[in-house]
Amino acid sequence: MPELWPNDLGPVICVVGARPNFMKMAPILRAFAAHQPAIPTLLLHTGQHYDRDMNDKLFEDLRLPHPDINLEVGSGSHAVQTAEVMRRFEPVLDEKKPSCVLVVGDVNSTLACTLVAVKKNIPVVHVEAGLRSYDRGMPEEINRVLTDQIADLLYTTERSAADNLAREGIAAERVRFVGNVMIDSLLNNREFARAPADSIAAVNADPALISSQQGYGVVTMHRPSNVDHADVLASLLGVLREISESIPLVFALHPRTKGNIERFGLQHLIDTPRMIMLPPQGYLEMLGLMAGARIVLTDSGGLQEETTALGVPCLTMRENTERPITVDQGTNTMVGRDIVAIRHHAAETLAGRGKSGRVPELWDGRTAERIAEDLATWLLARRNAAVN
Ligand code: UD1
Repeated sequence: MPELWPNDLGPVICVVGARPNFMKMAPILRAFAAHQPAIPTLLLHTGQHYDRDMNDKLFEDLRLPHPDINLEVGSGSHAVQTAEVMRRFEPVLDEKKPSCVLVVGDVNSTLACTLVAVKKNIPVVHVEAGLRSYDRGMPEEINRVLTDQIADLLYTTERSAADNLAREGIAAERVRFVGNVMIDSLLNNREFARAPADSIAAVNADPALISSQQGYGVVTMHRPSNVDHADVLASLLGVLREISESIPLVFALHPRTKGNIERFGLQHLIDTPRMIMLPPQGYLEMLGLMAGARIVLTDSGGLQEETTALGVPCLTMRENTERPITVDQGTNTMVGRDIVAIRHHAAETLAGRGKSGRVPELWDGRTAERIAEDLATWLLARRNAAVN
């Protein structure tokens, strides 16, 4: 390794767009800055998420620097959002001449920026590659498949990802198993997690509700397949309300879900003091809430991993998961939208028969360091080959 980053090798443009990207990027930026030599970066925000709750609060909690560039695309249909990111990203590449573009996860911004960079012959690095739900009805699955197909370097979180990629004809040399950057963030921030009682008090709910011996559960739900149809949303809220009679549930409401509860006239289903409705939570609030919970019910990707790392039983209200290691080794159980299964597994968990699991290989808090080392070596070797 040289002592200084070569002048002729541009910065790494690190792309974030939506909430689940932020906790993945924070440790990467830190590891790139700490690397010897430091890897120069530019943080680019597409503006896919923009609310204080969905964005600014997480930036503060994760101590992310202010983005160097913000494309300010905002909300829109998938086509409009993706196209708008692409249109606005292209001139940035012309101006900044990066050595590569680094994308994380599976949101629309991930795919949009990948597509633009690859067509300009700029290498793309995908962190959290190779995850597959094999459900093409999920917009994220389309983003994953296409991003991995055209990106140059694929960093994976679990070994099954390499098999998925091999099945799609992706050469093994492009794939590197490094572990999970989400867990880097979790371990870095565990000591700063906020007390659950404070998060409850912030909405004027009675903290005594969750501090009794019976404890509390945490719910998040925002997948279009769960919240965009009135009957599905009503039946899920109905079973959650039933569970809340056994254990108070703290619900962190995504704007999509909140809007649909109002639009479909389902407020009566959540109108009980035992279902505590919170706005989207900051990272440190969510970490505190999850760590103290007896059960988590979710349709999120990230929470399946975080609960596995924390050893908290998780019921995932989806038909499939792109993160099978959380089921095979961790605390996750897939319950789909099956009311009977949700009721049964919740009762089992509350009776102390939830999954305990173990922490998967390389979910050790050092993934970002491994990525920094590997990427620096790769970029320098490419540059030297081009110069010589
Ligand atoms: C996106 C990701 C999803 C991720 C989720 C986490 C895609 C395809 N989906 O879904 O993988 O799990 O983020 O939140 O990229 N809205 C606000 N404020 C905001 C952002 C959005 O109110 O700051 C509302 C808007 O009404 C918007 C809706 O939420 O139309 C959905 O936002 P969008 O970014 O399209 O997708 P998410 O459902 O958040």
